[in-house]
Amino acid sequence: MKAVILSGGFGTRLRPLTINTPKSMIPVLNIPFLEYLIKRLKSHKVSDIALAVSYLAEPIKNYFGDGSRFDVKLSYTVEEIPLGTAGAVKNAGGFIDEPTLVFNGDVFTDLDLTDMMENHKRNKAMLTIALTPVEDPTSYGLVETDSNNRILRFLEKPSPDEITTNMINAGTYILEPEVMSLIPAQTNCSFERDIFPLLLRNKEDVFAYPTDCYWMDIGKPENYFQVHYDLLNGKSNQYHFNNGRKKMVTGTNCIIHPSARISGTVVIGNNCIIGQDVKINGPVVIGSNCQISNYSIIDDSILWNSVHVEPLAKIKHTIIANDCHIGSGSIIEQAVLGNNTIVGYGKHIKAGQLVSPNTIVS
Ligand code: GTP
Repeated sequence: MKAVILSGGFGTRLRPLTINTPKSMIPVLNIPFLEYLIKRLKSHKVSDIALAVSYLAEPIKNYFGDGSRFDVKLSYTVEEIPLGTAGAVKNAGGFIDEPTLVFNGDVFTDLDLTDMMENHKRNKAMLTIALTPVEDPTSYGLVETDSNNRILRFLEKPSPDEITTNMINAGTYILEPEVMSLIPAQTNCSFERDIFPLLLRNKEDVFAYPTDCYWMDIGKPENYFQVHYDLLNGKSNQYHFNNGRKKMVTGTNCIIHPSARISGTVVIGNNCIIGQDVKINGPVVIGSNCQISNYSIIDDSILWNSVHVEPLAKIKHTIIANDCHIGSGSIIEQAVLGNNTIVGYGKHIKAGQLVSPNTIVS
């Protein structure tokens, strides 16, 4: 089987993190999100994968290269300006010469891809869209089906009285190569808004593949936290937190002061130093080369690599990207800090603040 992964969006809902890091490279438990997806594809015998990239393509290419490290064949199609989800797949040109999986590169899911492909073939579908249930359907595009899972209608962000289903488009599709002829070349075009409704109007065989397996769109800060909580709680079959044995996993070369108090589920990368009387209240994820200095408190937070926290700082429900420096005695709550932020001594970053990369908060 073949797959195209869409990794070229701006990721505006995850700003400031996505200013330097493409959404698909954002770490989930210290591993780039895309690595989970590629390993999952491989486990379903999908080893010919095209990455449709645009904005910030280099970090993806540098990490994954030709895919041989993951035993898959990776190719890249690069858009000079983002062409939209369908335009990006069109840009992959001749790659799609058989029924092909297409993935939004920001959805963490345990979807059974082999079974989805079998369903697609059994239905002789032109397009199959994976569906997932959500609690509050008002902010999503809903998909209405008949009892045979044939798609009848797409409903964009309906009002409460219009809601007939709680099933939404899960961002994974299987396309027949014929769909490509409907997508204009080098033009911004969206599957959800343009091509899927067009296929319905053309009375093509468009089917749903509904499933209630684990699914999370990591594209918003709260969802990014949630995918961490879920993986640490064993809700996905793609991650077994230390095989259920311990509450803490540390990488190599870490120095943890014996007086540090670590509770809850905690993941720490390589070469980290955790100082005297530091409190870490999980769930907490700390990347590699981080230093948490004496008497600091880290509570329910995600720190990427090379973050230096000076003494007596308090960090709660916050995401801190690479190379940040947090001054002593500072307090940071419910914030998102972009790469290379410097927070001065005793500063208070209040709830909801999004700090752009390279900012000095003094
Ligand atoms: P937001 O701006 O936060 O909505 O994020 P986004 O720009 O990534 O858009 P969205 O979440 O709707 O995109 C779904 C998936 O398609 C993501 O994996 C995007 O990276 C990808 N995507 C969106 N637009 C494009 C595009 O123009 N080109 C390519 N190659 N991928 C895209």
